[in-house]
Order: sequence, then C-alpha cells, then structure tokens
Amino acid sequence: MAIKAISFALLTFFAFSSLGFCNAAPIRAPVTTFNVMSYGAKPGKQDESTQAFMKAWAAACNFNGNARLLIPPGVYKLSETIFQGPCKSPTPITIFLQGTLQAVSDISAYPDKGWLSLDTINGVILTGGGTIDGQGQAVWPYNDCKTNPDCLHLPASLYITKTRNAKIKSINFINSMGFHMHITQSYLIRLHSLTITAAENSPNTDGMHISKSNTVKVSRTHIRTGDDCVSIGQGSTNVTINQITCGPGHGIR
Ligand SMILES: *[C@@H]1O[C@H](CO)[C@@H](O)[C@H](O)[C@H]1NC(C)=O
Repeated sequence: MAIKAISFALLTFFAFSSLGFCNAAPIRAPVTTFNVMSYGAKPGKQDESTQAFMKAWAAACNFNGNARLLIPPGVYKLSETIFQGPCKSPTPITIFLQGTLQAVSDISAYPDKGWLSLDTINGVILTGGGTIDGQGQAVWPYNDCKTNPDCLHLPASLYITKTRNAKIKSINFINSMGFHMHITQSYLIRLHSLTITAAENSPNTDGMHISKSNTVKVSRTHIRTGDDCVSIGQGSTNVTINQITCGPGHGIR
C-alpha cells in the first residue's frame, strides 16, 4: 500500500513535469501573512507594541510554509525587540514595514546591543518603505565616548547577528541611539535603497558598522549622520559598496 502511494506520487510528479508544469511561469507559492495588529499591536498610542511584535514574529517564524510579517501604517512604540531564528519557512520571511517604529527613550530598555535585532535567521527580507526612528536625540547626552574609554555604547537601531541571506531594502532610518545598523557574524547581507539620516552633531551614529561578516553588499543608499557613513571593523571580507551618497558624516572607513 505504501509503495503504491509513493509510486502514485511519483507518477503525478512526472505527469505534471511532462505537461511543462515545471517550465511554466513560476507558480506563486502561497504566502501566509502574520499581521502585528492581530497580535495586539497598538499604533498611535504611547503603549508599547513590543510583545505583540515578538508574538507575531514567533508565529511567522514557526510557521511551516512561506510567511510574511506585516506591520501596517501607523506609529508603533517599541523597546528591545528581537526577531529570533532559526525559522521554519522554506523561503526568506518578509518583514513588510509600512509603518514607523519608534524606540522608547529609556536606555535601560536595551540590555543588549540592539533596539531591533535579527538574530540567527537564515533568510529574511526587511522592506516596505517604512521608517525606523531610534529617537536618539533623547539619549545622545548619555554618550560620553569622547572622554570615557569604557563608555556605554547605545544600542544600534538594527542589530544583525549570526544571520545569513538577509536583504534590507527601501527602509528609512532616522536618529539612531547608537549605530543605525550593526552587522556582525553574518553572511550574505544585502542593503539596498536605504536612507539613513541623523543630526550632524549626533555622537557615534554611524550609518552602518560591519564586523566579522562575509559578503555584505551595500548599494543605492543615502547616508547623512554625525559619524561614519560606513565603518568596517575587523574580520570582514568581501564587502562591496556602490552608489552611496555620504555626508554630512565622517566618510567610509
Ligand atoms: C563576494 O560577493 C559577491 C556578491 O557581492 C558574490 O557574488 C561572491 O560570491 C562573493 N565571493 C566570495 C568569495 O564569497
């Protein structure tokens, strides 16, 4: 019986193949959307939506199929929010950000290196034209790195760690607390069509800091910040940067 079932499955497959099924226009595999609103996100309010975002992400990440996390228009307040993998989706999960994310301005809300983190994910796309606003102006006075070698490093707006195959595209970053993006221990990261803007006198607001990563491609990006546009730390290989507009800022190094 089992053998019969398998041979039937094979037959069906070959039947479809010989009909040209595999050569036809790519078939759009169904994508299941996980909307943060369905998990209790509260746009336009002072209430934090952090738990709702993490629950919606966990559902998308554990879903055994193609998944998309949707963040509709609106302003969402978030403290530390970790998009943690590994995930089950066979294709990269899209985080479709239409709204604006605003960091809460309490630095004790960020025990780690990031405000928003992509952690241990294989395959993720962050896009949608939305805005990631670190609200850094409220915490920049706590940055004393010019005078204190053991200074407190404020969190990066987007911390990408131990992640493979990520694309960040068509997103606006403004006024990060620390770096706008910090990419570390990652592989195959593409950053494309971003705008990154912070006050000219803001401290250590690098556009992006890349360390211990292999194959990072940055293109078509406008960076105006108070520190480096792109800084490349130790242990990075195959970093490609093209069509970047930089300034004000301290350049690329
Ligand atoms: C370097 O990056 C390019 C894409 O930017 C990629 O095609 C190539 O395979 C990478 N090379 C290595 C050695 O990883």
